[in-house]
Amino acid sequence: MTRIEILEPHGLCAGVNAAIAKALTLRDVYCLHALVHNEIVIGDLKALGFRFVDGIEDVPDGATVVFSAHGVSPRVREAAAARHLTVVDATCPYVAKVHAAARDFARRGLPVVILGDPDHVEFQGIAGEVPAPLTFAEALSPASPLAEGARLGVVAQTTMNADDVARQVADLRTRYAVETAAEVCRATKERQDAVRAFAGDAVLVLGSRTSANSRRLADVAAATGKRAFLAGTMDEVRALDLAGVATLGVTSGASTPERFFADAVRFLKHVPQHVAIIMDGNGRWATQRGKARGEGHKAGAKTLGDVLDWCGARGIRYLTVYAFSTENWKRPKEEVDGLMSLFARILKAKESRFVESEVRFRMVGRRGDLSPNLLAVIEALEAKTARFERQFIVAISYGGRAEIVDAANAAIRAGEPLTEETFRRFLYAPDVPDPDLVIRTSGELRTSNFLLWESAYSEYYFTDTLWPDFTEAELDRALASYAARHRRKGGV
Ligand code: IPE
Ligand code: IPE
Ligand code: MG
Repeated sequence: MTRIEILEPHGLCAGVNAAIAKALTLRDVYCLHALVHNEIVIGDLKALGFRFVDGIEDVPDGATVVFSAHGVSPRVREAAAARHLTVVDATCPYVAKVHAAARDFARRGLPVVILGDPDHVEFQGIAGEVPAPLTFAEALSPASPLAEGARLGVVAQTTMNADDVARQVADLRTRYAVETAAEVCRATKERQDAVRAFAGDAVLVLGSRTSANSRRLADVAAATGKRAFLAGTMDEVRALDLAGVATLGVTSGASTPERFFADAVRFLKHVPQHVAIIMDGNGRWATQRGKARGEGHKAGAKTLGDVLDWCGARGIRYLTVYAFSTENWKRPKEEVDGLMSLFARILKAKESRFVESEVRFRMVGRRGDLSPNLLAVIEALEAKTARFERQFIVAISYGGRAEIVDAANAAIRAGEPLTEETFRRFLYAPDVPDPDLVIRTSGELRTSNFLLWESAYSEYYFTDTLWPDFTEAELDRALASYAARHRRKGGV
């Protein structure tokens, strides 16, 4: 199996982050060119009503226009001013610095050579600052308009390969008296350095094909003899052929959102998206220690708090735990009452923890069986945390058969003909993907009525450990066992 190593830094650079943050405060605006070269970011903005145009003339009079992180030429600024457009400038400060340097050379009467890709909008924006900009190739061609030994100024696109910049400046020096302000931006350079220093055999750059700095990172990897992959969507990540790769370094371009990076890494490391746990053995744990069963439940609750953190740190998006079954009502009243008040107490006490760690809390089970007090605590917590992505789902008064019967009755009421997909819509948490891995502690080898519909193709992991004794190392053993399995799901 391929070992995954994360190269630092990754995710959005400061310039892109600021551009996106600025854009997210706006509505009903036009953006000149892609705000940043990443289709996930662009998709999010399109969903918010952003319109993307290729020329300033495509922006209607009176509208607001956003200049992208790549910057624009002075001609575009003047056109926007002449047409009284409202301008929001999201130009990366580092790009703005290159514009200023080019302008400065031009003001001093020096010819200016721009290193980079003349087809890239950043290059074109910089070119607009000087009267007759030259590319590297033009400056060194026999037809160059510059006299041998002429003094000239050199600037570079911020996302170039730093080695190429150094080489091209050296080449120009063989013919001219070069003054250079050419350097790649820090975010780009640090990533390139990390890729060069990485000792593994392949590098995956997470970023769009349209992103110059992402492509360049892949080029840097290839130039140091490593295999290089570029993937901009989860479909592309899933399609990667990593056969023969022993250690894969994962990095990203400066316009790649952290959310995509985390999803991709989780997939590559074979970390399950959804883990469900039958937390069993609290009673026996207490009995072994000569304590009341309730003490076992308290100890189990503490373990659960830790497990929630450990799952979060490993990129697991959904954790569902079996806290109380429809069959557990037949336990002695004292134990049942003790459990119900433990649930209410803990959920109340942990409210700020859920908010701080951005965890969405949900309950699955028969709500009508719960006391009004407990239900109120649960529903308040559900409302408070509804906006968060990572989910913690607690099954209380839950039975797999009860859920299927409840869903079937709801479907009958709705009068829907049933298929597996339409039936799913009537389950307690229809939007939650099926558990990939179900763990049961305490040595019992049964499901005890847990997630009967949802676990049809789940992998199971059983351990003799009693729930209060469950450790981080045991969780990792379960995850390693899961990662090594071949989930055929009926295929070959
Ligand atoms: C699981 O532990 C927790 C709940 C059912 C609430 P148990 O209470 O079933 O513990 P054992 O199985 O008796 O040891
Ligand atoms: C399953 O455990 C229910 C929970 C963990 C909440 P039980 O202890 O109730 O299950 P059985 O009785 O061993 O099957
Ligand atoms: Mg039990």
